[in-house]
Amino acid sequence: MSLRLGDTAPNFTADTTEGHIDFHEWLGDGWGVLMSHPADFTPVCTTEIGATSRLSEEFAKRNAKAIVVSVDSVEDHKKWGEDIERTQGTPLTLPLIGDTDRKVAELYDMIHPNEGDTSTVRSVFVIDPNKKIRMTLTYPKSAGRNFAEILRVIDSLQLTDNYKVTTPADWQNGDDVIISPALSDQDAEKLFPEGWNALTPYLRMTKQPNR
Ligand code: BEZ
Repeated sequence: MSLRLGDTAPNFTADTTEGHIDFHEWLGDGWGVLMSHPADFTPVCTTEIGATSRLSEEFAKRNAKAIVVSVDSVEDHKKWGEDIERTQGTPLTLPLIGDTDRKVAELYDMIHPNEGDTSTVRSVFVIDPNKKIRMTLTYPKSAGRNFAEILRVIDSLQLTDNYKVTTPADWQNGDDVIISPALSDQDAEKLFPEGWNALTPYLRMTKQPNR
């Protein structure tokens, strides 16, 4: 059965470009983003690993880090890293998991046989400090991911874990948010003393609380 939101992210051990890891230990008490790519030495994947490497400070600001898997060897990942550095203008700033036996790919259901071959599709799992899966995305092999969207969802999760709010469509950090519909107006007055704009009784917009 495929993994669902709220499930514990399955643990595994693996060799990576940064050495052998136990995944849960590697996650520590921060947020993690586990992603798969179809294959080393392929164009879209090269741009994706470059983009993720360039965003390492943005992940760090959110107490998050990324790790990537494909069914290639660590040796190939390291050789490919030289191409990434040369063509994407950044060294690798994240570990690449070698998964030639497909242990991780199968554990996370990253191989979709009707998508052409036995390589992984572009899966994304956002994992919280309790090791729970909080977001999943699956992109086709032909489309590189939007990493700003992954960071945006981490921002939303971190905000909504701490305040009784949710975030509207296309929300960006700093935009107005929605007061949780479960909160009565009476309770909302205590938590949002600056008030809100009630577009309907259930759609109450207010300033982002941690700003
Ligand atoms: C790519 O990274 O360019 C790619 C890899 C596998 C299938 C399609 C595209």
